[in-house]
Amino acid sequence: MQGTNRPIVVLDFGAQYSKLIARRIREASVYSLIVPFNLPIEEIKAMNPAGIVFSGGPASVGAPGSPKPDPKVFELGVPILGICYGVQLFADMLGGRVERATEREYGIAHLEHSDATGFFAGVDAHTQVWMSHGDRVEALPAGFETIGHTANSPFAAVADPKRRLYGVQFHPEVVHTPQGKTILSNFVHKICGCPAEWDMGSFVGPAIEEIRRTVGDRKVICALSGGVDSSVAAVLIHRAIGSNLSCVFVNNGLLRKGEAEMVQEVFRDNFHINLDYVDAEERFLTALHRMSDPERKRKVIGGLFIDIFEEEAKRLGHMDFLAQGTLYPDVIESVSATGGPSVTIKSHHNVGGLPDKMNLILLEPLRELFKDEVRALGRELGLPADIVGRHPFPGPGLGVRCIGEITRERLDTLRDADAIFIDEIKKAGLYGEIWQALVCLLPVRSVGVQGDERTYEEVCSLRAVTSEDAMTADWYRFPSDVLQRVSNRICNEVGRINRVLYDVTSKPPGTIEWE
Ligand code: XMP
Repeated sequence: MQGTNRPIVVLDFGAQYSKLIARRIREASVYSLIVPFNLPIEEIKAMNPAGIVFSGGPASVGAPGSPKPDPKVFELGVPILGICYGVQLFADMLGGRVERATEREYGIAHLEHSDATGFFAGVDAHTQVWMSHGDRVEALPAGFETIGHTANSPFAAVADPKRRLYGVQFHPEVVHTPQGKTILSNFVHKICGCPAEWDMGSFVGPAIEEIRRTVGDRKVICALSGGVDSSVAAVLIHRAIGSNLSCVFVNNGLLRKGEAEMVQEVFRDNFHINLDYVDAEERFLTALHRMSDPERKRKVIGGLFIDIFEEEAKRLGHMDFLAQGTLYPDVIESVSATGGPSVTIKSHHNVGGLPDKMNLILLEPLRELFKDEVRALGRELGLPADIVGRHPFPGPGLGVRCIGEITRERLDTLRDADAIFIDEIKKAGLYGEIWQALVCLLPVRSVGVQGDERTYEEVCSLRAVTSEDAMTADWYRFPSDVLQRVSNRICNEVGRINRVLYDVTSKPPGTIEWE
């Protein structure tokens, strides 16, 4: 999928940050992918990499069973960058020495560098870097020289310019190394010689070709939710195979204000995609009647969705593929430190179970992309900014935000409050810097006073978070005037809410959604 570019292959040794390395390299317009450290060398060679990165990892290189690459990787003759554990691998495998540091170095450090190969081009002579390591290199292998040091790490940056091996003890991929992007960009452009060619424009052509090759003249069905991922997947597949794609959009009655209309307008009217709109509000609300347990709600919503989708698919005739907007972070699983079985990453597959049940082959055209890249692709494909920049929305929709009993009236109340919250965030110009903003309707009532009248109404809680990948999140610090406007408008305009709270819980310990 990388087009004509030779990729940079990141060997994953179980670091928390492997995904970030690939992402930063792609930001430098070079295609990069992550593979487990023990992928057979023939397969790595077949990728024709322009360079290789050894990621960090939690293991000690000297410990029994610690993950090591095939030594033949050094015979490929391509530049290698070792990061943290990666540079210790150089020392361990090429004849240096690694030892446990007397003190673990964790956090900000100051690097002084001197280098003539271009690795540090454009980087300040004194620059901040971020360290997180217990072991450190104590003696360099033959051919290596020091090109940077910090107070605690005499070998913070090392190089064997002849063999084009570069190593850094710090993490250039994290934001706490402010010039880390420049360092990674130097490695891929100046050391590996990659042109800055990879972008979404160059992704589209080969991606369409691949979909055509895979699907041929067979039929694809797609569960369209109106969220960014399924929308971009649908438009891309439609470009490739036109009317052989059928999209099913199920209105489960748990959608946001105006959402069902918007999805129909965009996909059916603008993109002329075969769109099967199913109004299933009544069925969902009946199934959820008097139900307040979060897990039961999720199971009922998920199960009914699958039933309805299956019914529709049957009605549409024989289908061969199920299209899904699966992203790269859902696909790559970090390897464990010992190279044993991978840890499972939490995933929310709303159509999980369908492919087997209906005998469908999965078609996942976004499986190589990160979320921000999917957004760029959506823009490239001409999707409206409203869809491309949209905050994530869970499959069970307002069902997991209407805490307690789900009724049509409570859902309408929640929809109105949510629309006001989002509207004010957009008016304040803050929508883009917030990962996700939502309103929860709580299962309590509170006493209030409005125009001399006593009220006894619903309570809602606003939630807005910043995040990189939804695995961790921090609550968003709003200017107080924005919160004030939201609160005033909700109490005045919605009518059935008389108290508004703001949720100041990060994740962990809270999750983003309340249920
Ligand atoms: P939590 O609440 O676990 O959510 O912190 C993390 C992210 O996942 C979204 N989410 C879902 N997405 N189906 C989805 O497609 C689901 O069942 C689901 N549950 C939570 C949530 O909105 C947040 O972005």
